[in-house]
Amino acid sequence: MRRAIYPGSFDPVTNGHLDIIERGCKLFDEIIIAILVNPDKQPFFTIEERLEMLQEVLQTIARGKCVLRVDAFEGLLVHYAVAQEADAIVRGIRAISDYEYELQMALMNRRLEPSIETVFMMPAETYSYVSSRLVKEVFLLGGELDGLVPPLVQTRMKERTS
Ligand code: PNS
Repeated sequence: MRRAIYPGSFDPVTNGHLDIIERGCKLFDEIIIAILVNPDKQPFFTIEERLEMLQEVLQTIARGKCVLRVDAFEGLLVHYAVAQEADAIVRGIRAISDYEYELQMALMNRRLEPSIETVFMMPAETYSYVSSRLVKEVFLLGGELDGLVPPLVQTRMKERTS
């Protein structure tokens, strides 16, 4: 039984995130998609909205026998991972620019908790430039998001600003 944590802000969840989760399902029996509660950040969607959207959109992906759970956590990721009895942390790496930050986090997490491995996964090339930050910027400036986020997320973003 291999359990992984896929942590992030997911503000909002993108098709790139879903692509990573689908790929992760080939490696793990269970993936906990864990949203960081960050009181210092002003999010687009609340934690509750993000949890609900993730639950909904996860119904649409190819998961095989992999169990997918959605949760929120505060504090250190490795403490949460140990509490959940996870074996690994999954992180998506899109481009070389992600690597430096991700490497620092992975090594710090390993120092804090050597029993947890970080697994880097590459999304499909189609999503190699997709980030929640750019999605929000494009949306707020009136750009089209088809194919970048699930239709539900587009709907919720439009509702938020209408
Ligand atoms: O989607 P993001 O915002 O890139 O995710 C970053 C995240 C949530 C993985 C990272 O900020 C995190 O793990 N935060 C929890 C606090 C923590 O453990 N910090 C030390 C990291 S070495």
